[in-house]
Amino acid sequence: MRHAPLPATFFASHRARLQALLPAGALAVVGSNDVLPRNADGVLPLVPQADLFYLTGIEQEESVLVLAPTALDEAMRAVLFLRKPDPDTTVIEGDKLSEEQATEISGIATIRWLSDLPMLLHKLMCEMELVYLNSNEHLRAEIVIETREARFVRELMARYPLHRYCRLARLMHSLRVIKSPEEVALMRQALAITRSGFLRVLSELHPGMNECEVEALYAYEFTRQRGFFAYNPIIASGLSACTLHYNRNDQPCRDGELLLLDVAASYANYNADLTRTIPVSGRFSARQRQVYDAVLRLQRALIAAARPGLLWRDWQRLAEDLACEALAGLGLLPTGQLARDRSGRSPCKRYFMHGVGHPIGLDVHDVGHLTQPFANGWAITVEPGFYIPEEGLGIRLEDIIVIADDAPINLMAEVPIEAEAIEQALARPRP
Ligand code: GLY
Ligand code: MN
Ligand code: MN
Repeated sequence: MRHAPLPATFFASHRARLQALLPAGALAVVGSNDVLPRNADGVLPLVPQADLFYLTGIEQEESVLVLAPTALDEAMRAVLFLRKPDPDTTVIEGDKLSEEQATEISGIATIRWLSDLPMLLHKLMCEMELVYLNSNEHLRAEIVIETREARFVRELMARYPLHRYCRLARLMHSLRVIKSPEEVALMRQALAITRSGFLRVLSELHPGMNECEVEALYAYEFTRQRGFFAYNPIIASGLSACTLHYNRNDQPCRDGELLLLDVAASYANYNADLTRTIPVSGRFSARQRQVYDAVLRLQRALIAAARPGLLWRDWQRLAEDLACEALAGLGLLPTGQLARDRSGRSPCKRYFMHGVGHPIGLDVHDVGHLTQPFANGWAITVEPGFYIPEEGLGIRLEDIIVIADDAPINLMAEVPIEAEAIEQALARPRP
């Protein structure tokens, strides 16, 4: 792992929260993600399974956590199964976790090798009644392969068809959506790394620089500070900013254009998500500034409205209603025609076609119950944008806030966002 070690108590507290939700006689199983193949004999880097990391701190492939809080044998109430280190693998892949290291990371006393899993799981299945298994229940997930966890669910249900099976994801979402102060501190670390990447871009950007050179500036800052890219960076100059998930990042940044930067780091598996839009020349044109300020006002209004009790649906509606007024003020929508159509679609969708934000944490688009009202401790993004292809510009501004009673806490308060602050940071002699 690239990040500094985290205290085992961090993960133990998450297990305690889950155990409190499990009824008597319940067994829960969480496993690693697959190491996915590339072409030929290549593999992609392992993406640590977020629930497994949340509950154990383990980032190693083929690991399995079994929780049975009411098992008769106290040693079987929390068991971590790992690949057994062997010299053939070590010489290629390096060391795997020892039992002692796994205990030190996770705080779990009972560590077993994977070869013991069938026999010990059978013992627990014979004792327990309810089996909580994991599945990807993210609202927008499109899963076209059978994942490791889906294979496990299929095989266990075939072997033990008469148990009662339950959805672990529902419980995990309700835990993970509320961020503890320790989790917020890790997100702040990801944000600090993100900020330094952005400041480096502000200090080095000049007309003619290629988008991929801008990406390299972020990569340098993120990697040397033990971070990773949280998602494929979007570095989009001019018209490309109107492609929401643009990530070719291969065009020159031209004088007079805006550059949309949706780039952020992760640290210790916790993600940041930041978007800023800046003028390549160092100064906004009058029209760019007009649109920029409208997006910034919209973002501020949405942050102010994000209070405990609010429903996502109502926040999105507010965003669309305010966006309509702003777009009319910019001459982009006719003032008299701002009503929704018969299907409820807002006219603002022509220029602001995406959601206002999403939960963020161990996943960039994090899990959470989106039908439930905002609650203290939710970390969410606020990311309105206006995309105007006919004017060759797209502007999005994205911050992360934590919902709190008094007022939301903006974790990006230290990242320049005012047009003047951006221009000031860009004000220097340019090649
Ligand atoms: N960067 C991905 C997003 O903003 O949702
Ligand atoms: Mn986002
Ligand atoms: Mn983003």
